[in-house]
Amino acid sequence: MAKSIGHRKIRTAVFISGRGSNLKNLIRFSKTERSPISINLVLSNKKAIGLKYATQHKIEKQIINFKNKKIAENKILVNLKKKNIEFICLAGFMKILSKNFIKKFKKKIINIHPSYLPKYKGLNTSKRALKNKEKFSGCTVHYVSSRLDSGKIILQKKTSISENETENSLNKKIIKQEHKLYPAAILKIFN
Ligand code: GRF
Repeated sequence: MAKSIGHRKIRTAVFISGRGSNLKNLIRFSKTERSPISINLVLSNKKAIGLKYATQHKIEKQIINFKNKKIAENKILVNLKKKNIEFICLAGFMKILSKNFIKKFKKKIINIHPSYLPKYKGLNTSKRALKNKEKFSGCTVHYVSSRLDSGKIILQKKTSISENETENSLNKKIIKQEHKLYPAAILKIFN
């Protein structure tokens, strides 16, 4: 992985599909001096609520319809090239990128997932952890590979599950940890 050269920050795109709390947090982090990345593009597969953070911070945004994945990914690749994007952070992006796309950004796409991987890949992670009476769940930042939520782990953090935990309360605890973990993982990669 290329390290940042001098004070130049690594031009990064964030892909979202929803609320965008990780995006908001990454934008805040990117503006700090210690951040190795700048956020130069926010991409979404729909009119996600989180796009408002791109608007607020005057970051270019792009909405891409994924009805035809190949066409969508080609459009994305064109724009990433145009904007000289070197690194991609997935943050609640609900589409699965193709092998071909991932190959083009090998080791340059990372994702945050709300479980202590390899446990609970996929959706409804907290619900399933509670159902299985787990003592802890957590969150993980990992490289994106062609198998869902299975790429090399960069950093992860456990969150304990208390006696009367609900899905909602657990999700709240995890998202708080996510907001610490994502910047920490980016620092780990580039430092
Ligand atoms: C987070 O829990 C993240 O781990 C998962 O999707 C959620 C996105 O939340 N991949 P937000 O849109 O960043 O608030």
